[in-house]
Amino acid sequence: MNLHIGVLSGDGIGPEVTNQSIKILTAIADKYQHTFTFQHELVGAIAIDETGNPLPQKTLNLCLEADAVLFGAIGNPKYDNNPAAKVRPEQGLLALRKALGLFANIRPVKAYDTLLDKSPLKKHIIQDTDIVIYRELTGGIYFGEKTLSEDGTAASDLCSYSKTEIERVAHLAFKAAQSRRKKLTLVDKANVLETSRLWRKVVTAMASQYPDVELDFLFVDNAAMQMVLNPSQFDVILTENMFGDIISDEASVIGGSIGLLASASIGEKYALFEPIHGSYPQATGKGIANPIASILSAAMLLDHFGLLEEAETVRDAVERAIDLEICTPDLNAHGGYSTENVGTFIEDFIENVDALHINTGNIKVGQSTII
Ligand SMILES: NC(=O)c1ccc[n+]([C@@H]2O[C@H](COP(=O)([O-])OP(=O)(O)OC[C@H]3O[C@@H](n4cnc5c(N)ncnc54)[C@H](O)[C@@H]3O)[C@@H](O)[C@H]2O)c1
Repeated sequence: MNLHIGVLSGDGIGPEVTNQSIKILTAIADKYQHTFTFQHELVGAIAIDETGNPLPQKTLNLCLEADAVLFGAIGNPKYDNNPAAKVRPEQGLLALRKALGLFANIRPVKAYDTLLDKSPLKKHIIQDTDIVIYRELTGGIYFGEKTLSEDGTAASDLCSYSKTEIERVAHLAFKAAQSRRKKLTLVDKANVLETSRLWRKVVTAMASQYPDVELDFLFVDNAAMQMVLNPSQFDVILTENMFGDIISDEASVIGGSIGLLASASIGEKYALFEPIHGSYPQATGKGIANPIASILSAAMLLDHFGLLEEAETVRDAVERAIDLEICTPDLNAHGGYSTENVGTFIEDFIENVDALHINTGNIKVGQSTII
């Protein structure tokens, strides 16, 4: 397969982690005889510094022409600490999501056995957790009409959804459930909200198209509680924009480090893949940023194009790195492995997996790790 990938690595640790993903995608292309080309453009603070615009037209054009976008992170303290700044890095990402019509945000959350102790939640609670959250991304209360009374004492935000907006993300969630454990949970507040009742009605009507998927419903307040009481009960969660924002951040503590969490944002025509973390400015250039969230986002890119075996190969390699604790300091404080070392191990594993014999004694910083 030929894929032209637009790379917006952005600010802070963005370029460091994205470079590891490019390494991994290149290894996959070589192994499975694909041709992946990468074209870089600016986004975020670096784009403001160089062009005055967090999403320059040249960058947007690349995203519109590319088969997919690999995104790093944006953000710089000089903008965060300046409330008067008129142009901000985040505007670049929001404008991009809007321009590409990315209506579904997909976030997998998994508890890796080796990392069960890293989560603030108890081991027996998070064990076997493997969830994918489908969050509607371009509708609902975040995008509804906003009002503020003239005297500033009353305000409102409109939450509205159409059948079409619900159906397009729900189809993706049902299909994901079909390829997994065949359970879909709709999280809503149908006892109170009219929009939630519409979600239930539309999703229930769609269920007959997916007879192999068991559909159930949970009010969002209960879902928030269940996420920390018994997260392994969930397979695929489908929810609207604001509930998804909150539930997915809550779920992110299960994995043990934000540096493990990948995401995909999908539209009718375009798709963007990014780690959920930000630009972690304190770590820039230190080689301590975990590249796994970015690498798992690259695996989601492969899934998106039906390259399922390739995506699985990447995930297997990541799991092997985690099992062997070849991890950056957020997960292995004393291992001495850098961002680059972790990426190189995963790359080596992909290249050599067929003739695999790992000698962990040979794992050294900056050296080929597999013999
Ligand atoms: N999608 C995005 O690009 C995005 C998302 C969130 C925040 N931001 C921006 O990033 C900047 C920093 O924001 P923040 O500090 O709130 O969030 P952040 O995600 O950059 O960092 C928060 C903390 O998470 C940990 N962390 C993050 N990424 C990590 C990685 N790869 N490996 C190991 N640990 C990691 C670190 O402990 C860090 O202190 C801000 O400018 C913010 O606006 C961007």
